Amino acid sequence: MSNKITMQPKIGMSFIGPRPLTILTTIDSKENVTSMTAALTMPASINPPLLILGISPQRQTMKNIVKNGEIVLNIPSYSIAKQAWIVGMNLPNGIKLDVAGLTTTPSIEIKPPIINECYINYECEVVNLQQPGDQMIITVKPIVMHIDLTLKNMIQEKQGKKSNSLFDNYKDIRKKMKHIYFAGFSGEPLGMDIGLLEEKDKRVGGVPPFNQSKKWFGEATGRGILSPSESETLKQLCQQWKKHQNPEENKDIRKKLIVEFKNFFNNLKIT
Ligand SMILES: Cc1cc2nc3c(=O)[nH]c(=O)nc-3n(C[C@H](O)[C@H](O)[C@H](O)COP(=O)(O)O)c2cc1C
Repeated sequence: MSNKITMQPKIGMSFIGPRPLTILTTIDSKENVTSMTAALTMPASINPPLLILGISPQRQTMKNIVKNGEIVLNIPSYSIAKQAWIVGMNLPNGIKLDVAGLTTTPSIEIKPPIINECYINYECEVVNLQQPGDQMIITVKPIVMHIDLTLKNMIQEKQGKKSNSLFDNYKDIRKKMKHIYFAGFSGEPLGMDIGLLEEKDKRVGGVPPFNQSKKWFGEATGRGILSPSESETLKQLCQQWKKHQNPEENKDIRKKLIVEFKNFFNNLKIT
């Protein structure tokens, strides 16, 4: 006789893991760089190389993908866990990388840029879009891959100058990269943790679940993170930016918004 109980699959989706993180970069119609942290990502074919992503239709990223079919997958390491945490918050479009302090370089083949602080970046073209559930399932084809020279040199030094194959030793590359994961739920209110799975002290935590970011910001004043006047300033700047999200014409508001959000995150104790 089976020693099992049955349950609704819906509540059991969190058993499937670990979920490696990526930071996605896309471009909107006003040339803003949109960025988001994503955990529903995996390789789906080796030849040709294909990756699949699960992205909510509500994301600005999704709107950009539908419009121009281009996306960069950037692989974040532990050294930028806090930045990946910030990029996973529902902040106004087009400012997240600046708020997090991440920088970019233009891609070779597509419009969205690569993130410098990520050791590995894949420039991708979208080849298929489907919506069988609450997320869009996007199949993308990497057309160019970038790998940071420090990572490449470190591996080749270890292998001895004789070897010129970068991929003789995936284990060393992965060790150096310290690729981070969606590492579970914790915090008050229940928040999403980001970090290394094997080292519990190497995590940052408490990103509010996707649908609760707005409420979480709204309550920041009550929790003493923002004074009432700072909260009001932030609210007004968000509205002014939302009305006119043009990074050139509305650059003063954009700049102020970045400063305010930077202060917000500097004052925030991340678990
Ligand atoms: C750890 C973590 C994993 C996430 N994974 C996904 C994901 O796989 N798909 C998704 O749609 N949103 C995911 N999100 C939420 C988005 O990163 C977040 O809503 C982002 O602000 C969307 O940005 P955009 O609307 O500017 O595109 C994740 C957030 C975190 C913190």
